[in-house]
Amino acid sequence: MLCDRYDNALLTTSQKARDHYDAGLDSLLSGMPDMTERFARAVEADPGFALGHVGLARARMIGADMVGAREAMRDARKLAEGLPAKQAAHLHTMGLLIDGNAAGAREAVREHVRSHPRDVLIAQLCTSVFGLIGFSGMPGREADQLAYTAALLPHYGDEDWWILSQHAFSLCEVGRLDEASDMIDRSLALRPQNAHAAHVRSHTYYEAGETETGRAYLDAWLPGYSPKGLLHAHLAWHSALWAMEQDDMDRLWQAVDAHIRPSASQAAPIIKLTDAAAILYRAELAGQTVAPERWQEVSRYALDAFPNGGLAFVEFHAALAHAMAGNPEALHAVLENAKGPLAEIVQACGEAFAAITRSAWSEAVAHLTVALADHARLGGSRAQRDLLELSMLHALLKMGRGEEARRLLALRRPVFGDHVPLAAWQRTVLH
Ligand SMILES: [Fe+2]
Repeated sequence: MLCDRYDNALLTTSQKARDHYDAGLDSLLSGMPDMTERFARAVEADPGFALGHVGLARARMIGADMVGAREAMRDARKLAEGLPAKQAAHLHTMGLLIDGNAAGAREAVREHVRSHPRDVLIAQLCTSVFGLIGFSGMPGREADQLAYTAALLPHYGDEDWWILSQHAFSLCEVGRLDEASDMIDRSLALRPQNAHAAHVRSHTYYEAGETETGRAYLDAWLPGYSPKGLLHAHLAWHSALWAMEQDDMDRLWQAVDAHIRPSASQAAPIIKLTDAAAILYRAELAGQTVAPERWQEVSRYALDAFPNGGLAFVEFHAALAHAMAGNPEALHAVLENAKGPLAEIVQACGEAFAAITRSAWSEAVAHLTVALADHARLGGSRAQRDLLELSMLHALLKMGRGEEARRLLALRRPVFGDHVPLAAWQRTVLH
């Protein structure tokens, strides 16, 4: 019986199909650009390989090819009859996700990994800040994420680079940085060419305030990674943030123009929008003049790529881009259409950004107070949501409330120390 490298029976008799599947799995788990091609070759070698089609669907989804993902899932479902319970549940769970039922998929994953924790293609759906728990919108989702990967860990052992990288991310996002740092180093020693691990390493440096070390790390790691790789543009974003913190604005704008702005980025749409909006905004807060055309490009991209809105994480970045681009109709539409349990937070963010563009600082602070109460529910990483923390500090400083800003920083984001990437901070608090 042919299995993947986690001992999951694949139900194909083609060694070639199995080998391509396994290679595809490794590429998917490490963010390498050939994941779709590998799964495509697996089902080419054995068109009756149901799990191969499921893997192809997931790889295409990660690559933001939802039409292709649905097609692969249709092919998988045609082969579903007679599958054993485990493989049938694997197919069913991925099908829920591809069909857009994130809540159903999240519960199905939890159920599945209770019996089959090493069925990694399903287990990985609930890992990382962009996974089904990361975007659950639930209060306490960072602790939930940690509990999830902690429960998986013993089933994979100390020598599995994938679970080490994912558990390290969970630890990092709850502030357990020493453990996260040790674990991500172990993961990278086992497999250096893992973009997800390089990403977690970057977050761990960011959360520890190790700007110089982090920047040097990415300077060394990134040139060996294909620009077509899933995380290339986002790692360039991390590097650009550090360049900005070190006042290297030439490098910041080089990275924006080469890798981050929507017309240059090769990332998935969610990253294209959110990283572009965030970097422009953080550059402005750091005192850079951002050309209006740059904001208009991001605002247009948000409308093109997400005409019907999307995740709250997307919506609050779209609101930022529209506000800064001077596009009040689009901003109003985002806030009007925000639905679900996170609507109030998205609206608070959008109203705050609109107030900031009018220099209505007191109003901005009132809205940001609502948004900051539990912004982890928006999803994404702490580093990404720092734009909200920085917005609050910026607004307080504009109101002359420097002492309050200092106290807030010490309470919420002591990582910045005195190196707060805010022009107003340098002017007001330090002098
Ligand atoms: Fe990141």
